[in-house]
Amino acid sequence: MKQANANEKSIEGMLDQQETLLIVDDEAAIRRVLCQKLSREGYQCEEADAAEQTLNTLATSPIALVILDIKMPGKSGIELLPEIKSGYPDTAVIMATAVTDINVAIQCLKQGADDYICKPFNLEEVSLAVQRALEKRRLKLELREYQQFLEEKIEEQTGEIRKIFLGAIEALVTALEAKDKYTGGHSRRVTEIALALGNELGLSAQDMEDLRWGSLLHDIGKIAIDQAIQNKPTRLTPEEYEHIMIHAHVGADIVRPVVNGKIAEMIEHHHDHYNGSGLHQVIVGNNIPLGARILAVADAFDAMISDRPYRSAMSITEAIDEIKRCAGTQFDPDVVAAFLKTAETATT
Ligand SMILES: [Fe+2]
Repeated sequence: MKQANANEKSIEGMLDQQETLLIVDDEAAIRRVLCQKLSREGYQCEEADAAEQTLNTLATSPIALVILDIKMPGKSGIELLPEIKSGYPDTAVIMATAVTDINVAIQCLKQGADDYICKPFNLEEVSLAVQRALEKRRLKLELREYQQFLEEKIEEQTGEIRKIFLGAIEALVTALEAKDKYTGGHSRRVTEIALALGNELGLSAQDMEDLRWGSLLHDIGKIAIDQAIQNKPTRLTPEEYEHIMIHAHVGADIVRPVVNGKIAEMIEHHHDHYNGSGLHQVIVGNNIPLGARILAVADAFDAMISDRPYRSAMSITEAIDEIKRCAGTQFDPDVVAAFLKTAETATT
């Protein structure tokens, strides 16, 4: 929209500044009379004798109101009106017409003109019409400013509430992990690894933020898991494994009311296998959200290098080899490639 370029000022700025009027008429005498009258009333006045000069002035100066002659040689005021309204919707327009053109003037009102004045002019009526149109414009701008203010306030408060809620859930994750000597700090370490992978894969700032939250909260669903099964010192039975794996689904349901869909999906699918061989898996390959594919590698790596009740930790080299071995089956090969690069950088 041209308005933004020509008038690069805030609504507040537009309201504060002295209002400039543009008098458009092909007759110099009429322009002069109107300018003299309106200047005496404190308005700043510019003049244009035809369409081209009108558009040039609008493009270079912030004009609050145009008095637009309907009949002009070349492009008429009727033809010019829609151009002004679409390019400069915050500029008020008063049509100036001969008494015989009243129907045309009414037509112009339907096309967005704010008012019309009749020739020969009664200067007091002109002045009143200008005041009315400017007051209407001012109210419109104030209303828009207030709407913007409210929208920003709502956005700000929604963000605050979301932050508080996510912070509380994060604290809950930390508390959950602290109860278990095997998983203490797991979510934070997974977050660090996942963000390094996201960085390597060139994720956008927004996707990185989603990945951060998805990683921190990925195991929140473990709140629903039987502690006896989670801490079982021997290998899990298939039923017990199935029970543990519901945490991905439960976790997504817990966070879904307060996070965007991407974060919830990331949590829901963080145990999916790239080739579709995961438990009760419904999507495969690149249909699994990228965040979940990243999380799968980060989560598995941290799990492998940590002690578990039923096995001791692998060495970093063994864990890297295992991730490499599962590229294309359990893990997305592109994510594994990014993982190998970051692992190489970390170890050199
Ligand atoms: Fe998990």
